[in-house]
Amino acid sequence: MMNTLDALLSRASASVLQDPAPEGEALRQILETGLRAPDHGHLRPWQFILIRGEARARWAEAVVAATLARDPETPPGLLQKRRTRINGVPLIVALGVRVKAGKIPEVEQLLSAGAAAMNMLNAAHALGFGGIWVTGANAYDPALVTALGLAPEDRLAGFLYLGTPAEPRPTPRRPALDEHLSEWTGVPAPA
Ligand SMILES: Cc1cc2nc3c(=O)[nH]c(=O)nc-3n(C[C@H](O)[C@H](O)[C@H](O)COP(=O)(O)O)c2cc1C
Repeated sequence: MMNTLDALLSRASASVLQDPAPEGEALRQILETGLRAPDHGHLRPWQFILIRGEARARWAEAVVAATLARDPETPPGLLQKRRTRINGVPLIVALGVRVKAGKIPEVEQLLSAGAAAMNMLNAAHALGFGGIWVTGANAYDPALVTALGLAPEDRLAGFLYLGTPAEPRPTPRRPALDEHLSEWTGVPAPA
């Protein structure tokens, strides 16, 4: 396994994935890193929902039904593309957020779920797997939130698609730090 900094600095999204998916101890470790996300108020809002094996076809149909409910004119070719995509992902982790009412704003609970997602992507990479975090309209569709067993007031921070990268990936170009860094010294820092 890579050392921590090497893993953090070399991770890149992998969207073309093949078997094997992480499973057993490796999967447990990946999911445990999600539970190390910072979490204001110790609300533990995270609910990770695994979708794998034959359940992927059922999930694909739920997505197709939700897509058609949002737009009955969706072309059949696009629906079939969705089915093929979902059935080809070795493991999907739906990132449920059980939003708790109270003094911690919802956005902070969503941020905590985002931190959990990032930990899991990094852990998967460190263990030799790959993945990508996806959202799109399905992540914001209340029908799919409840189809996953979440409550209507809960949210989805998206989905982690995990597996083994299917192709050698070129190292992506990364942003220059200088463009994303300033230092505030008492007056507004130049953007
Ligand atoms: C909240 C969030 C939602 C995302 N949704 C999608 C998505 O729907 N489809 C997609 O291809 N990538 C999605 N991505 C992944 C980005 O495409 C990816 O992180 C970006 O291309 C940068 O690549 P890198 O992860 O290799 O740095 C999402 C990333 C985040 C953080």
